[in-house]
Amino acid sequence: MDSPAKDPAKIQSMFSTIARRYDLLNRVLSLGIDRRWRTFAVSQLPAVSKGVFLDVATGTCDVALEIIRRQGPGAKVVGVDFSEGMLELGREKVRKSGNQERIEVRFADATTLPFEDNSFDASIIAFGIRNVRDYRKGISEMGRVVKSGGKVVILEFASVQSGFFRPLYVFYITRILPFIGEIISGKKGAYQYLPDSMLNFPPPEKLKEAMEESGLHDVHYHTLSFGITTVHVGTVP
Ligand SMILES: C[S@@+](CC[C@H](N)C(=O)[O-])C[C@H]1O[C@@H](n2cnc3c(N)ncnc32)[C@H](O)[C@@H]1O
Repeated sequence: MDSPAKDPAKIQSMFSTIARRYDLLNRVLSLGIDRRWRTFAVSQLPAVSKGVFLDVATGTCDVALEIIRRQGPGAKVVGVDFSEGMLELGREKVRKSGNQERIEVRFADATTLPFEDNSFDASIIAFGIRNVRDYRKGISEMGRVVKSGGKVVILEFASVQSGFFRPLYVFYITRILPFIGEIISGKKGAYQYLPDSMLNFPPPEKLKEAMEESGLHDVHYHTLSFGITTVHVGTVP
């Protein structure tokens, strides 16, 4: 499989190809820490009774389900993604959890969200923005659809910048991760894209700047697990 190199059509098809094994791969490759990263990111959303939240690049809906667990009984989530394969898995998980009344799962591209301005109390994207070719457009769309005072939250790998941990990290993501990814997914080269996209994504300070340039206020970020991931939070003015 070629590296999708941010070609949206290739990214769509890559995620559809690995969708069935996606959750298992997440748990194995992150040694189970991915759940804690998502829980932390969701904890940054404002608690809003009867709030409506947007989960962009929802994939298999782990974040959407976590929002429902955390927010009051009146809260609702709309989860969007542009991979039909991932959406199918997401819908299945939502159905099995009995939350189909509270989580709507639909097809949409992060750069052209099919929602009116000010439709949501907050928006979140987990491990998705790195894949969006025009990530600045994605951020500005996430801000556009959120009401004034609401939050935009971005959970993403951060490409550990320096320190003793970096060589180990680079070795893990460039050698071990694609190898295990290939075995579990059964797709040759499927996980080669992951290290490429992780190492090439802008560092946390740049992402913060991009969020500020998109008009968000009070932008700050939390560094998790030795800087493997960051959670950026901005407020819609
Ligand atoms: C690594 S998965 C993350 C899924 C989920 N948020 C999670 O935390 O597990 C990335 C997801 O982003 C979606 N994606 C990538 N680019 C997108 C775009 N431009 N619009 C919508 N979804 C996109 C992919 O289809 C995939 O499901």
